[in-house]
Amino acid sequence: MTAVPFFRPDLQQAEIDEVVATLRSGWLTTGPRCRQFEENFAAAVGGKHAVAVNSCTAAMHLAVAVLDLRPGQAVLLPTMTFAATAEVVRYLGAVPILVDCDPETFNLDLDDAERKLADLRRGRLPVDGDLEPVGIIPVHVAGRMVDMAAVQDFARRHRLWVVEDAAHAFPAAWRPDAATPWQRCGEGTAAVTCYSFYANKTLTTGEGGMAVTDDEALAAHMRSLSLHGLSNDAWGRYGAKGSWDYRILAAGFKYNLTDIAAAIGLHQLARGESMRRQRQSIAEAYLEAFEDLSEIELPSLHADRLHSWHLFQIRLRRGALDIDRDTFLRTLRQRQIGFSVHWRPLHLHPYYSDTFGWRPEHLPVASEVWERSLSLPIFPGMTQEEITAVVDAVHQISAEHRITTEQRLRPVS
Ligand SMILES: Cc1ncc(COP(=O)(O)O)c(C=O)c1O
Repeated sequence: MTAVPFFRPDLQQAEIDEVVATLRSGWLTTGPRCRQFEENFAAAVGGKHAVAVNSCTAAMHLAVAVLDLRPGQAVLLPTMTFAATAEVVRYLGAVPILVDCDPETFNLDLDDAERKLADLRRGRLPVDGDLEPVGIIPVHVAGRMVDMAAVQDFARRHRLWVVEDAAHAFPAAWRPDAATPWQRCGEGTAAVTCYSFYANKTLTTGEGGMAVTDDEALAAHMRSLSLHGLSNDAWGRYGAKGSWDYRILAAGFKYNLTDIAAAIGLHQLARGESMRRQRQSIAEAYLEAFEDLSEIELPSLHADRLHSWHLFQIRLRRGALDIDRDTFLRTLRQRQIGFSVHWRPLHLHPYYSDTFGWRPEHLPVASEVWERSLSLPIFPGMTQEEITAVVDAVHQISAEHRITTEQRLRPVS
């Protein structure tokens, strides 16, 4: 039996050599390699300024901090996301307003965002009706971009800033239609676009992140806050042209990226599009292999999205199998096939239900669909044998647990 991990990082000799060169250089923390990584990353996504930090969570925290998020304010964000998207709002004492998702893409549903704002004003949400909504954080789930024109339009009408959680979306792009040129995620798509370089992301530095913005003042503010609110980072102080002196401008954070991490990032970035193409070909192989499997619902291809394919999520069709998702996962594990679930929605976690009173009925789509969802392995360097092992396992489990029409029609005695 071929064991398949959920993810295996694609680290090559170039990354290893660059890390060794960094160690030999004697400059380990934020320095020339971070600066180069920032420059190259901004150019790759089409943004003007990039600030390298040690996680996407840090990038989002800095973004909402420089947008002056405060207690008494609220931010719309999807319930179908990872902890980080909402916790950064809590760091500043503001309140997340959870929004339901599209049942197929899992991306935030803007119609529900409209409803949530109206319900907030009418005092029909569990959160305090006097909160002032100031921002929205869309998440490009799995690397399939949200319609950013619709988000921008929504944000303009409601006077909200937009911060993108692009943890999954390097590299990704979208266009409203085939007549419009592609716009890359980060190419002016939000006030700040935040990426993750966590161990299993599409570009990894082990841990790491980037905040991209076209606004020079926001970038400078985030850069300073990322290093204790100092006027000058270590490279600026101790580099050849630096000055030893600095001023503390704010009570900042310790979020800077190391040059060791940037050394990995530089080479991952250079291979970013070729790794994306490898994931896309795996996604296409899965789509073809599962096309006729009526027990499984598949992600759809969209001509107006350049998908990063960070995840390949499938949904078990309701009523089609005699096992639930968790049993399906256990069976995959027995066959040594890696998997993950993205995600138990935020409102079904004790912190958000107990603190704010969110209930399944406030977010019915996410409440239902997450229980049928799972993510299959997809990573560059996945072998044909590994792809076949995943395909065979899903086919076999589906065949063994299929509810036939005859069974479905059998009267309950
Ligand atoms: C949607 C989303 N946002 C944010 C994060 C946090 O990224 P990081 O671990 O780099 O802080 C993750 C991590 O998995 C994520 O999936």
